[in-house]
Amino acid sequence: MTDELKNKALEKGVPIIKDEGLAFLLNYIREHECKTILELGTAVGYSAIQMASLAKDIFIDTIEKNEEMYKQALVNIKNAGLEKQIEVHFLPIEEFETDKKYDLIFVDAAKAQYGRYLEKFLDNLKDEGAMIFDNMVFHGLVYEPENIASRSLRSLVKKIVKFREMVHNDKRFDIMEFDNIGDGILVLTRRKSGS
Ligand SMILES: C[S@@+](CC[C@H](N)C(=O)[O-])C[C@H]1O[C@@H](n2cnc3c(N)ncnc32)[C@H](O)[C@@H]1O
Repeated sequence: MTDELKNKALEKGVPIIKDEGLAFLLNYIREHECKTILELGTAVGYSAIQMASLAKDIFIDTIEKNEEMYKQALVNIKNAGLEKQIEVHFLPIEEFETDKKYDLIFVDAAKAQYGRYLEKFLDNLKDEGAMIFDNMVFHGLVYEPENIASRSLRSLVKKIVKFREMVHNDKRFDIMEFDNIGDGILVLTRRKSGS
């Protein structure tokens, strides 16, 4: 079922998480027993379905602003029988407000906005929770942004590089970077005081 969903998404050019990145994400959820998850960027619900399928007591809020994607996600989630575990919110991430606290926030939407998303949702992260960011190497382009011909792509990639530098230098956080997994994964947790 999820293989079919993955193949359909890839055929239609819907950007979904790479296999290795997904395996890392699912493993993290299992190991850290994450039960409440906020996902930024639903697309057609592929990663949300994969995460929710791990256990019946995992609950996911996921946000998508593209109507076509949103509608397809609803269909896919219903077909997977996971409507009780996954709630898709149809609006721009910038407008989503909640008081909920999550074990995990999976960030997989507009790459240029990662810094903003981090600040916006930090209060929604439990003390021991983690934020996981996908596409941190952006097809390897973060290593040589100066060589990118397209101006808009260069600007986007530079924003990712800046975000990486920013979280490196921010003493509020501990980060782990896995550049060789999928399209590059970064895990961010709160630094314990005194460490
Ligand atoms: C990489 S895809 C998500 C893939 C999905 N997590 C998966 O692996 O199956 C990113 C999605 O984020 C959505 N998106 C981008 N910027 C957004 C925003 N500001 N608000 C809501 N959705 C956004 C896009 O429409 C797109 O569907």
